[in-house]
Amino acid sequence: MVISSTHLNKVITLDGPSGSGKGTICRLIANDMGYELLDSGALYRLTALSAHNQNVDFANEQALAAIAHHLDIVFMAGEQATTALLSGVDVTKAIREEKVGMLASKVAAFGLVREALLARQRAFLTPKGLVADGRDMGTVVFTDAPVKIFLTASSDVRAQRRMAQLARANITGDYDTILRDIRQRDDQDRNRKVAPLIPAHDAHTIDCSYMEIIDVQQAITDIIQKAGL
Ligand code: C5P
Repeated sequence: MVISSTHLNKVITLDGPSGSGKGTICRLIANDMGYELLDSGALYRLTALSAHNQNVDFANEQALAAIAHHLDIVFMAGEQATTALLSGVDVTKAIREEKVGMLASKVAAFGLVREALLARQRAFLTPKGLVADGRDMGTVVFTDAPVKIFLTASSDVRAQRRMAQLARANITGDYDTILRDIRQRDDQDRNRKVAPLIPAHDAHTIDCSYMEIIDVQQAITDIIQKAGL
């Protein structure tokens, strides 16, 4: 689909580090606005899982880009969650594993992989409008978006939230391991050469370390309203 400037008036980008709560907030905002949702991290996770399943060398940029280019994926949006199918197999849970997140961060450092996923991400934009969740939504993929948010939180708070999330699923997490993984992924995402994790120059940065979700949602809704969306 060709992206017209009219469509671009209805794009909200939310970038930030892993565990900042972007996913939850994006879903709330998308439901509220009646917009579509793009979880761009899922595309990198699916590329990583597919490459892992096919025993592709994670140092082989060309091979990884080919995987990204030919991904056979289907997303089925639900109210609470989105189901992801990879070559017809439900991988919704598998792509959420931390080891897949770490592999996703590796493949995401390659320019050819990012290029291969660019058109796929932009195709999520329809006349309904779009909330785009990721690392480079405001800096690369939707540079003309009228509302850009950079949502961040301290690594300690993000690790605590992850522990609580695991506890709700009756899983005992190891705090030090979780914190180490979060910091390692931050480091990889922030310091890569291509599309590093940085706020767009015109983004509103929100540090939600000590905010409730409802307050974050309200702060973003205020920004959206001021922008006239
Ligand atoms: O957001 P999520 O944790 O699912 O993303 C997994 C990984 O995919 C990130 O750590 C990051 O390296 C990569 N990613 C990216 N650009 C995006 C979305 C995700 O590089 N727009």
